[in-house]
Order: sequence, then C-alpha cells, then structure tokens
Amino acid sequence: MTLNSKLAKLLNEQINNEMSSSYIYLAMAAWFEQTPYTGFATWMFNQSREETMHALKFYQYVVDRDAAVVLQPIAKPKADFKNPIDVFEHSLKQEQKVTQQINDLFEVAEQVKDHASKNLLLWFLNEQMEEEKSVRDMLDRLKLAGNDPASLLVLDREAGQRKAATGGEADAAA
Ligand code: FEO
Repeated sequence: MTLNSKLAKLLNEQINNEMSSSYIYLAMAAWFEQTPYTGFATWMFNQSREETMHALKFYQYVVDRDAAVVLQPIAKPKADFKNPIDVFEHSLKQEQKVTQQINDLFEVAEQVKDHASKNLLLWFLNEQMEEEKSVRDMLDRLKLAGNDPASLLVLDREAGQRKAATGGEADAAA
C-alpha cells in the first residue's frame, strides 16, 4: 500500500519534530551541567537520546513504506532557564506539543485508512502518555521541594538513576 502523500509529509515533519525535541533536551542537559544538579543533567541527556530514537523510528518507518525521507533544519533550542522547575515546565509543554502532533498524525492516518501507520502512532501515543506522566510527577515533587536544598538533592539523585533508553522497546513495538 502506497503511503498517502499528506501522511508521508507529516511523518517526515515528525522526524524533524523528534530531532528538535532531542536538541531541546540536550540544551536542558547542558544547562543542568552548569549547576550542581548532575542527576537532572543525566535525566535530560537520556531523554534527548530517547527523542533521537523516536526520530529514527519515524525515519525507518518512512523508509520501510517506500517513501522518500526529506530532512529539514533543526531550530536552535532555548538555552537559558531560571531554575529546575522552569526546565521541567518547559519539558512538560514540549511533551504536550508532541502529543498533539502525534494525535494530529493519527487522525490523518485514520482518514486515509492506513492501519499500519495507526499502529505505529498508537505506540507513540502510549509513549507520550508515559513521558508526560514522568515529567509531571517530577514537576509536582520539585514544587513540593521548593527551595529546600536537601529535598532537591534527593530528587536530583533519583533523576540521575533514570535508565537510558536502548531503543529495543521501540524496535519490539515496531
Ligand atoms: Fe518523542 Fe517525547 O516526544
């Protein structure tokens, strides 16, 4: 089944959106590296890697569907933040934006009755739900910790223990 041209264009855009996300998280990791919060830096670095894996998953899907991959420039990410809460608030907004993008893609896949694409996008919708939840949970706890250094360091240590994505999970779901 030939990939619908509108869907192919949007899937290509999503490669760029995910690479942009990866860059945004890498900038957040770099910002944390300039602070005492090395655990949050690790969290953001691992998130950046996950977003690259997402981009590659879309890339492989477009290739597997025998459509052309067209790569676009990646925008410069925001590099200045006020504090850890500010970073995680931007992270949550970023994830909500991506969820909307995937939702829009799913609707187009549904309109053109492309069930294979719907299957791929369902995996991403579940992934987005998990990502929004983990960012929201951390944000809630950061707000609870406020300016208490001891509480912030506990959260930082925990964030540093977050496992890096291997991409295996994404492959298994493909
Ligand atoms: Fe791949 Fe978190 O968007």
